[in-house]
Amino acid sequence: MKLKLILNLLLVLSISAFAQTSTQQSQTVPAWAKESPEQKWKRMEWWREARFGMFIHWGLYSVPARHEWVQSREKIPVEGYQKYFEAFNPDLYNPKDWAQKAKNAGMKYVVITAKHHEGFCLWDTKYSDFKATNTAAKRDLLKPLVDAFRAEGIRIGFYYSLIDWHHPEFTIDRAHPLRDNKDARSDKRDMSKYRTYMRNQLTELLTQFGQIDQLFLDYSYPGENGKGHADWDSEGLLRLVRKLQPQIIVDDRLDLYHTSWGWDYKTPEQFMPQEWPKVDGVKVPWETCQTFSGSWGYNRDEYTWKSPQQLTAMLSEVVSKGGNLLLNVGPTARGEFDSRANERLAAIGHWMKYNSRSIYGCTEAPPEFKKPDNCFLTYNPSTRRLYVHVLEWPFKSLHLKGYKGLVKYVQLLSDGSEIKFRENIAPGSHTTETTGDNDIMLELPVQKPEGAIPVIEIILK
Ligand code: GLC
Repeated sequence: MKLKLILNLLLVLSISAFAQTSTQQSQTVPAWAKESPEQKWKRMEWWREARFGMFIHWGLYSVPARHEWVQSREKIPVEGYQKYFEAFNPDLYNPKDWAQKAKNAGMKYVVITAKHHEGFCLWDTKYSDFKATNTAAKRDLLKPLVDAFRAEGIRIGFYYSLIDWHHPEFTIDRAHPLRDNKDARSDKRDMSKYRTYMRNQLTELLTQFGQIDQLFLDYSYPGENGKGHADWDSEGLLRLVRKLQPQIIVDDRLDLYHTSWGWDYKTPEQFMPQEWPKVDGVKVPWETCQTFSGSWGYNRDEYTWKSPQQLTAMLSEVVSKGGNLLLNVGPTARGEFDSRANERLAAIGHWMKYNSRSIYGCTEAPPEFKKPDNCFLTYNPSTRRLYVHVLEWPFKSLHLKGYKGLVKYVQLLSDGSEIKFRENIAPGSHTTETTGDNDIMLELPVQKPEGAIPVIEIILK
């Protein structure tokens, strides 16, 4: 009972911590961005519960198949890139199959690159000819994807690149493919026209595809010869976005970190934060995006693929630190997930089938529950169940320090079989095994149970 009170108190505290970040600079919050902490908490509820989403990077860069930054890395001018537009022919594209695979992997939302830095648009935009309808695909590729994922009950997010290496008015900066081209001059380019283009395109994306749940705007690189909020008119863009889709969840890459209202969540990319990320000392919503291999776009010759075991551990770790995992697939130019991606999605799906209870709706465990060695801990505040994700299966016993008196029942999550536990173990003639005053010891089977990472479910008193 007392524990229940403490846990409820912790929940209230976490909402108010959330509140703190939202009110830090309340004086400067523009009227259109005003929202109470409780409203924001509610708006982000589905996302917090979901914990696991699929990122999809698909565009013309899947044709050269050597990273989605190929145009910048190899300094390819627009005319040189045209050959990929001409070669792009996704004859095997079947978004229903993608949606099925995401669903089977246990993913609850998708974020698809409507437009990446190369400027190519997957939908039938009115404002550019550089779009799917003008390729051999001869159709809008975004709409059927949205429909297919929605049909599987998966929420829809759009990635929209702020950067655009195709647009003639996008000024040449330090990342631009023409950065070293002496004849290419920014003074002939007019960013205000590009800003209008972005507004028009975002209006299309946020009015023609039904409810859009998440928006990933990518990205700012302020400083010398870079671009930041003034170049994008970030405030104006965000205002438009919130007007068109008030419930939408927006990332933090608009370069509005100096405000409390210019972002919904942090986006650590391609690394694992050591702990729950904080802003001004307060834990904030976060989602890490990760690749299978290292490239976001399909990369034929990339061999640093993470193993299914590593990916599963990554999901457990992210949730144990209160975050979301957005795991990326880079489909091929013909429109398929390649076998390496399929294998991994299936393996994660198998694990999720038995262990998703330790992921959905879960978060970091309350501080009184310390994680044992070689384990991650997740916790569901609604059911008040604790999950021990065991990375390295120990021999027979697992000691849980400080858990004495708090535990009602313990079971293996995968098959619902009881795991006995003991308190007050004193050394005997054959053993030196003991439990400390506040500890308990789980009696584990000698053999590691089937599955990448066995999870032990603890039902608290
Ligand atoms: C970076 C890269 C981009 C990728 C993104 C994913 O911003 O520029 O290629 O789409 O990260 O978060």
